[in-house]
Amino acid sequence: MTGEVVEFLQPRPGQVILDCTLGEGGHALRLLPLLAPGGFLLGLDRDDSAPAVAEQKLAGYGELLRIERANYTELEEALGRAGIESVDGVLFDLGVNSSQLDNADRGFSFQNDGPLDMRMDTAAGQTAADLVNRSNRKDLEWLIREYGEERFAGRISRRIVEERGKNPIRTTGRLAKIISRAVPGRGKIHPATRTFQALRLEVNQELDCLNRALPLAREILRPGGRICLIAFHSLEDRIVKHTFRRWAGEEKVKILTRKPVRPREEEVRTNPRSRSARLRAAEKI
Ligand SMILES: C[S@@+](CC[C@H](N)C(=O)[O-])C[C@H]1O[C@@H](n2cnc3c(N)ncnc32)[C@H](O)[C@@H]1O
Repeated sequence: MTGEVVEFLQPRPGQVILDCTLGEGGHALRLLPLLAPGGFLLGLDRDDSAPAVAEQKLAGYGELLRIERANYTELEEALGRAGIESVDGVLFDLGVNSSQLDNADRGFSFQNDGPLDMRMDTAAGQTAADLVNRSNRKDLEWLIREYGEERFAGRISRRIVEERGKNPIRTTGRLAKIISRAVPGRGKIHPATRTFQALRLEVNQELDCLNRALPLAREILRPGGRICLIAFHSLEDRIVKHTFRRWAGEEKVKILTRKPVRPREEEVRTNPRSRSARLRAAEKI
C-alpha cells in the first residue's frame, strides 16, 4: 500500500519522517526521493537481519537516511541519537516482513519446517517453542482464542498438551501437523494460520508494543504532522481505531480515514499477503 502511504503522509522536500517498521525498506524507498533535498528519514526495525537488507537497498540515499536496529517502543531514544526533536510523519507498517515468513530458520511459517522460534529480535525473550511447551493448557487456550480468534482453541490446546507430553514440540512442521489433526474439516485458510498468528503476537509482545508506542508517536509529531498505520490483524487495527477516536475526542488529532483503507484488488492479486491490510491515518492538531 505504498501509494496510499504517500497519499496520506504527503512527504515533501525538507521534511522528516520516522519509519518505525523499516523492514527491508520498501516504503522507505518510495518516500526518500520525495524528501530530497534537505529531508531525512529515520528507519527502525527490531529484526536481526532486515536493517542490513534495507541498508543495501537504500545505499544511495546517504545523509538523507539513518537506520537503527531498535524496537519502536524506543523511538524517542532513537530520535535523540539522530539529533531530532520532532517529525512531520510517522509510519507503522505492522506485522512481519516477507523474509521472516519465507526463511524457515526464523520459525514463523507453518509451510516450511524449521525451529519453532518466531522472535523478531532473536537476542530477546522466549521462543514460540518455550511458550508451547511451558504454558499451562488454559493459558494456551486463551492465547489461541483471543490472539488467533480461533474457535477451535480448546481442541488445539488439548492436543498440544497431549503431544508435548510425549515429546517437546520443537519444530513448526510438527506443530502445524498437531493443529491440523485437532481441527475438523478444511477451511479456506490453513488450519494452523490462526494459532501461528497468536503465538507470534505473544512471542513478540506486538499488541503491547503498539499500545506503548502510539502515544510516543503522537508526542513527537509536529502540529500538522501525520501518522499512518497499516495493520494486518484485527486486534491491532482495533487498537489503532480506538486510540485515534479517543485522541480525536480530545481534539488532539483529526482522523483522515473515516473507514480503514484496504488494498486495491490489483495489489491483492500481485501480493496476496496484502489482503488483510487496513490503513488508518490521522493528522496532529
Ligand atoms: C510488514 S514489515 C515492514 C515492511 C516495510 N514497510 C517494507 O516496505 O519493506 C513489518 C516490520 O516491522 C518490524 N517490527 C515489528 N514489530 C516491531 C517493533 N516493535 N519495533 C521495531 N520493528 C518492528 C518487523 O521486524 C518487520 O520487519
